[in-house]
Amino acid sequence: MVGVDWRRSPAFLLGFRISAAALASIPFFALLWSLFLGDLGPDPGQAITESLGLAAFQLLLATLCMTPLKRWTDWSGWLRIRRMLGLFAFFYAILHVLAFLQFIVGWFDLWVTFTKRPYIIAGAMAFLCLVPLAITSTKGMVRKLGGARWKRLHRLIYLAVVVAWIHFIWQARSDVGEMVFYAVIVVWLLALRWRWAGWGALVPLKR
Ligand code: HEM
Repeated sequence: MVGVDWRRSPAFLLGFRISAAALASIPFFALLWSLFLGDLGPDPGQAITESLGLAAFQLLLATLCMTPLKRWTDWSGWLRIRRMLGLFAFFYAILHVLAFLQFIVGWFDLWVTFTKRPYIIAGAMAFLCLVPLAITSTKGMVRKLGGARWKRLHRLIYLAVVVAWIHFIWQARSDVGEMVFYAVIVVWLLALRWRWAGWGALVPLKR
């Protein structure tokens, strides 16, 4: 039977986008709320930096979940929130780096700060991968670069998620369960791409 697909209705799509934006904003408002209540523990700067880093990482993973969800549900609505989720990830990553500079190390000797410790280098690499993705995320840039080139460039997200995960585990002091949980998700998301399109589809910039 051919019915009306309510998932395609403009009202549903708008509601879906708004709900996704609201969900993605939760870490930000939760942090503001904790700040307001003053319950960020003995080292609020550290807590703020960590929670922003975690939000950036989780949103990166959420962004990567959109294509599999589209395939499994045969609904392109997931792709309509992909760019927004990616930009939220970038937004949290910027705040994370700013918080790190403001609350943990200060704004001096930035080169030394970003190159001294291996886990910071991994974080900086993840951040640098996200920058071109955010800059080229607009429709105009997709047109300018051309679909194929844009896609090749946007495979940087796979490198970003892997180095962000390395950054995450490198500085973790405990909670092995959390590390394994995220490792399983990262490997699973990459393995899906590999199954669907081969290794080549995971390598940034490769023709
Ligand atoms: C220049 C870039 C970056 C710097 C300097 C940086 C720095 C830091 C620092 C200082 C911590 C806390 C370490 C501690 O607890 O002592 C941290 C944790 C973390 N960062 Fe970054 N980071 C960067 C980029 C990123 C990016 C791009 C992501 C993700 C997309 C990310 C995700 C995380 C995560 C998930 C944590 C762990 C949070 C937790 O413990 O719950 N970081 N980062």
